Amino acid sequence: MKTLAIISQKGGPGKSTLAINLAVQATTKKKTSVIIDLDPQANATTWGDLREGENPLVISAQAARIKQMLKTAKEGGADLVIIDTPAKSENSALEAARNANFILTPCRPGLFDLDALSFTFDLIKMAKQDCAVVLNQVPPRGTTADETADYVRNQGFSVCPIRIGHRAAFSHSITVGRGVSEFEPKGKAADEIRKLYAWVMKRM
Ligand SMILES: Nc1ncnc2c1ncn2[C@@H]1O[C@H](COP(=O)(O)OP(=O)(O)OP(=O)(O)O)[C@@H](O)[C@H]1O
Ligand SMILES: [Mg+2]
Repeated sequence: MKTLAIISQKGGPGKSTLAINLAVQATTKKKTSVIIDLDPQANATTWGDLREGENPLVISAQAARIKQMLKTAKEGGADLVIIDTPAKSENSALEAARNANFILTPCRPGLFDLDALSFTFDLIKMAKQDCAVVLNQVPPRGTTADETADYVRNQGFSVCPIRIGHRAAFSHSITVGRGVSEFEPKGKAADEIRKLYAWVMKRM
């Protein structure tokens, strides 16, 4: 069983969106995936409720219970656990990071998100874990994504070569309890998630 933590101290860069879509992508690969939702806002859990029992299983939990949850997932035959974490909660992010094989940090291109990234980097350093920043909600034009990638590398962190565009399919699919690969399997969003999933699996 592999565990992926998705952490960012910034609100809204796409933690839950990526957790959900990577977990759905795993199921299309016939893997048993589980989302552990550490966010009291419970966005991933609400999405899971819309699926009425369809995989992936989404479990709402507290950070203090993470080890027990992972043990249960392993005993239950999970291949992949994805931990979705809240923004602005060092404790949850650290617990997730410490118990993961790999960390993904979504980041929107742009100055305001870069400011917040340094807090996330501090946590990742504390957890001493392998991590990559994935650029999300990337606009179709402009150089901000390249500038953001340069900033991340200059801080000594890896940038995932797969970029996720700003695409309506991500928000539309979530509101109906789907992932983009179910909602629009031939769309660009689904293609990006397929590539991101393959890249993350290789890195783990
Ligand atoms: N690639 C994308 N293209 C378009 N919209 C996106 C994309 N990724 C995320 N979104 C939208 O951005 C908003 C924030 O995404 P999401 O809830 O996944 O972020 P988050 O990091 O989990 O936020 P929070 O810190 O509040 O938990 C949502 O409305 C989501 O639909
Ligand atoms: Mg979230």
